[in-house]
Amino acid sequence: MIETSEKIFENDDRVVTPEVTGDDSDIEVSLRPKCLAEYIGQDKAKENLAVYIEAAKRRNEPLDHVLLYGPPGLGKTTLSGIIAHEMGSNLRITSGPAIEKPGDLAALLTNLSENDVLFIDEIHRLSRSIEEILYPALEDNVLDIMIGKGPSARSIRIDLPKFTLVGATTRAGQLTPPLRDRFGVVLRLELYSSEQLCDIIRRSSMILGIPCDPDGAAEIAGRARGTPRIANRLLKRVRDFADVIGNGVITKDIASIALDRLEIDPLGLDSIDKRMLTMIIKGYNGGPVGLDTLASAIGEEAVTLEDMCEPFLMQLGFLARTPRGRCATKLAYEHLGFSRPDEQENGKQLSF
Ligand code: ADE
Repeated sequence: MIETSEKIFENDDRVVTPEVTGDDSDIEVSLRPKCLAEYIGQDKAKENLAVYIEAAKRRNEPLDHVLLYGPPGLGKTTLSGIIAHEMGSNLRITSGPAIEKPGDLAALLTNLSENDVLFIDEIHRLSRSIEEILYPALEDNVLDIMIGKGPSARSIRIDLPKFTLVGATTRAGQLTPPLRDRFGVVLRLELYSSEQLCDIIRRSSMILGIPCDPDGAAEIAGRARGTPRIANRLLKRVRDFADVIGNGVITKDIASIALDRLEIDPLGLDSIDKRMLTMIIKGYNGGPVGLDTLASAIGEEAVTLEDMCEPFLMQLGFLARTPRGRCATKLAYEHLGFSRPDEQENGKQLSF
């Protein structure tokens, strides 16, 4: 059973946003692999998780608390569902910002059953006061709540069932050390390779009954920014083009026409990525430029650039993050068709 107490839809207008959009929720659920064997990619995390799950099952204990971190859209919610499935437990889904008051967390925790998996997305956004309540729940399976106020206030302790917390975050560095220390299992999720995304697209097209030839899948995979959520979303959009301007089959040509029309370039860059790199190159001579300065120069939020553009641009080798700011690399100049400023002329060392 899966219960969701909150869903957040943001960045609805960007086709390559790795965040959930209103359009995704229906297909995402149907495409989610249910068990580790169906889950493609993240081999290191998957192999270790398989060992921890097997060990916990043999000992007849709940799995230790798990922290999943990495860029959005890589399958943190999916993995939490798989953990619950493999452990034979229920999954409860919520998120840091949805837990506003101590009573919200108390209600969640007291409604858990033995061995349930509680998934808290964006766990770095829990408030300090909520975190304090979570600690004894994670360590000793108890909930300490204050009744009343002032001199007559007293604390009562409630026993909780044993449960596994799966916390997910795009920003592991923002977790407070005491919270981070309470996770026995910490797994980092990485952007997917094009080959892995191709396998995911072929699996999804089979489940959805969308005819897609291998080259068509590869074309979509190559532009999906290492992110399954984007790959599945693009598959859906390309299908529309295949139905209307083709014969219903996703081929390399149809995929290429559709993705060009969606203004996603052959490497998966969209207009925000290009504006960001162009601003570094043209506005700041290739960098370094501070993130906040860059974000306001192109009219985007710093967090949007940091979470949605930078991981992918860094994986492509187009962007370097230095202590003094962001720099465009030689590869970025080449991809966007800009020539690099002459080292001598500028009197500065170009090191990227
Ligand atoms: N759909 C989305 N992510 C997936 C994954 N990692 N494996 C299989 N199918 C997926």
